[in-house]
Amino acid sequence: MYEDFAKVYDELMQEIDYDEWADYLFRMTLNASIPIKKILEFGCGTGNITLRLAQKGFDVTAVDLSEDMLTVADEKAEEQGIDNVRFFKGDMSNFKIDDTFDAVMVCCDSFNYLENLEKVESFIACASEALRPGGLLMFDMNTPEKYKETIGDNTFVYNFDNVYCVWENALKPEEDKIDFDLSFFVRRKDDLYERYEEQQSQFYYPVEEIFRLLKIPSFKNQKIYDFGTFLAGGALSDRVQYVAEKR
Ligand SMILES: C[S@@+](CC[C@H](N)C(=O)[O-])C[C@H]1O[C@@H](n2cnc3c(N)ncnc32)[C@H](O)[C@@H]1O
Repeated sequence: MYEDFAKVYDELMQEIDYDEWADYLFRMTLNASIPIKKILEFGCGTGNITLRLAQKGFDVTAVDLSEDMLTVADEKAEEQGIDNVRFFKGDMSNFKIDDTFDAVMVCCDSFNYLENLEKVESFIACASEALRPGGLLMFDMNTPEKYKETIGDNTFVYNFDNVYCVWENALKPEEDKIDFDLSFFVRRKDDLYERYEEQQSQFYYPVEEIFRLLKIPSFKNQKIYDFGTFLAGGALSDRVQYVAEKR
């Protein structure tokens, strides 16, 4: 997963307002009871949020499962002259580091790759372990409502300057998951197109069920926001943002 996809990921995501996304996370850190300076980010991908947070002055340790995504992120950090970020290959549901952080973040669909509730619990335990008291666990999640009502079994086509992408979805409600079948046609220098394919799945969970998993003794002040706002989120939101404070 996210091998050849890494080459075209940024072009396909060009409509996402990452500046606004990073600002939203930044504003959330201002509500913490300790100053937030050191961030551990899981599922950092090509570093779109990572590098923006580093530019805001945070020291970011960024982790991803995909070596190809990390390579792109690392190259971008170097190009932009950003040196307050370090990248590691790792799995958010099974990650140990001999360090502590003021915040642990997961952004933009990465959480929805966790395949079952055991992995979600294990991710929450890893985050708890990595946080110092007063630190924040912050992650967003696409809701079942979004997968069922917006994405559904639809096929989307994207036609960008250098990439033509067909993204077919197959909803599997009995397994609470959706299968993506992606075909990318990437323009080469000679104007011919090379085809790449990728299959992947995302998983969805009831909003309240994940909230329940956050209600453990090591966390307090748990909140669910309607993503992009500081208003209460819930089952009817497309994306929710969870925040919890480490005791
Ligand atoms: C949709 S991308 C999001 C990337 C980035 N956060 C962004 O905003 O553009 C999802 C990323 O999560 C990573 N990922 C999926 N499961 C993961 C896991 N268990 N641990 C760490 N990274 C994971 C994938 O490799 C991919 O780079």
